[in-house]
Amino acid sequence: MPRQRKDIFDALTADHDRHRSLLKTLGNGNTASDKRMALFEELTRELKGHAAAEEQALYSVILAKPEMTDKARHSVAEHKEIDDLLNHLATVDIATKEWSRKFAELSDEYIHHIDEEEEELFPDASDVLTEADEVHMRVVFERRKKVEKAQAEITPEVEPEK
Ligand SMILES: [Fe+2]
Ligand SMILES: [Fe+2]
Repeated sequence: MPRQRKDIFDALTADHDRHRSLLKTLGNGNTASDKRMALFEELTRELKGHAAAEEQALYSVILAKPEMTDKARHSVAEHKEIDDLLNHLATVDIATKEWSRKFAELSDEYIHHIDEEEEELFPDASDVLTEADEVHMRVVFERRKKVEKAQAEITPEVEPEK
């Protein structure tokens, strides 16, 4: 659905499209290991920076709306799972099959997450927000994304099995 204004949802969706294309390039086995390493570091900073800024600009507000609490909580829990997968992936040698297998898992999980945001969560959130909220949130998102992305780190770590 074409939108006439510039709001948080346009900014988030434009980021998601960049992420989809980064994931596609990284999933292509023909890219050399050193290039993939640089792309993986960029992907890690992008996804961590995006999720943190998204939580600060959007999720913090919709978590407080009773009709959105469950859905928002589910989505924020997925951010943590994606973080764990990125950190796990950083412990694995990028030239191995194990890396490719783990990367495919991350990619599937992330695509599922952003499809769900775009198809379900954003439209529902839009119903409980005003246009002014949505425009203001974009400003917060863009400001925070810059800071969070710059501060995001590659932290190799394997979560203990639960
Ligand atoms: Fe998200
Ligand atoms: Fe997102």
